[in-house]
Amino acid sequence: MHADDRVTIFDTSLRDGEQSPGCSMTAPQKLRFARALDELGVDVIEAGFPASSSADLEGVQAIARDVRNASIATLARCHDGDIDACARALEHAHKPRIHVFISTSPLHREHKLGLSREQVLERAILGVERARRYADDVEFSAEDALRTEHDFLVEISSAAIAAGARTINIPDTVGYTTPAEIRALFEHLRANVRGAERAVFSTHCHNDLGLAVANSLAAIEGGARQVECTINGIGERAGNCALEELVMALNVRRGYYNAHTGIDTRRLVPTSRLLSHITGMAVQRNKAIVGQNAFAHESGIHQHGMLKHRGTYEIMHPETVGWSQSQMVLGRHSGRAALKDRLQTLGFELDETRLNAVFGAFKALAEKKREVFDADLEALALGSDGAP
Ligand code: KIV
Ligand code: ZN
Repeated sequence: MHADDRVTIFDTSLRDGEQSPGCSMTAPQKLRFARALDELGVDVIEAGFPASSSADLEGVQAIARDVRNASIATLARCHDGDIDACARALEHAHKPRIHVFISTSPLHREHKLGLSREQVLERAILGVERARRYADDVEFSAEDALRTEHDFLVEISSAAIAAGARTINIPDTVGYTTPAEIRALFEHLRANVRGAERAVFSTHCHNDLGLAVANSLAAIEGGARQVECTINGIGERAGNCALEELVMALNVRRGYYNAHTGIDTRRLVPTSRLLSHITGMAVQRNKAIVGQNAFAHESGIHQHGMLKHRGTYEIMHPETVGWSQSQMVLGRHSGRAALKDRLQTLGFELDETRLNAVFGAFKALAEKKREVFDADLEALALGSDGAP
């Protein structure tokens, strides 16, 4: 096993997530969410696909100007126009990354692209080289990698590294793989790709069989050191690997995986809630980590065990992922300072005027309702500036 390695968290909520039905966001909403991701501590924010529309390009530009900690990535096909649009979008980024991709599987080569292996290889090399003219940090993705011949994956990954790619992403585009299979593939690539020691191998799993998190963890066991994921697992069809689940699996089982992330786990629930508020897409009650029931104990036997020792039925404390210990937080006797403090924990920094407005609304609500919950406070705070 390796030493306790750092795994890069690449969040694609604003690209792969945002392109799925029910999850589209306006440019100001995307900016607001990018700030929340930066606070959460993600390493890379994939902010969009600038060639898709001028609105997307402008949205990415606003994020690139604003975010100072995370790298900002943008997606491009191996087309000159796409790559040039990425360069324009990232002009003011503190840490820009251009992410180029091309389909590599026989099915996609024949039916989607109408290209031979040799032609796909050539386009990949030209794409990476062009992206390198604009950015040092270039990522290459072999779309539908998990249904690609292994010798071709080795060849194209080696060529992408030689052309200047720093990250080689191996997407399970259609959520087809299994944990044992993807682990073996990463081991094979790390052993056979030329220049592998100069690149970070990345996993990007879709959830069509409900295996995206398990497959991403298995890829880490096989040597992946970047995981592409989304908050609440939003994404094409059944979604992408859920960031909060992946991060907490690494956190709770750190001794098993010998790997960790830079995520501030106490921000997981507030970030999940913010995304639901922005998109209107609620998470299921029993969703791991961020669902309403994730830490609820209903049965008498469980409650009895919990009263004796929390560890009997709790593998992590709700506070460590951002739930307040008790869901009831404030009542009609609570003051402005307590409200401000709780809102800060939930991720809201309100100026005096907005705080006063929220405090007034809170007092009115507390008169009607005995218990004011986090969700109520979030609704009041989000409503205070009319956004999102
Ligand atoms: O699922 C996929 O293959 C992708 C690539 C564009 C990275 O989203
Ligand atoms: Zn994807």
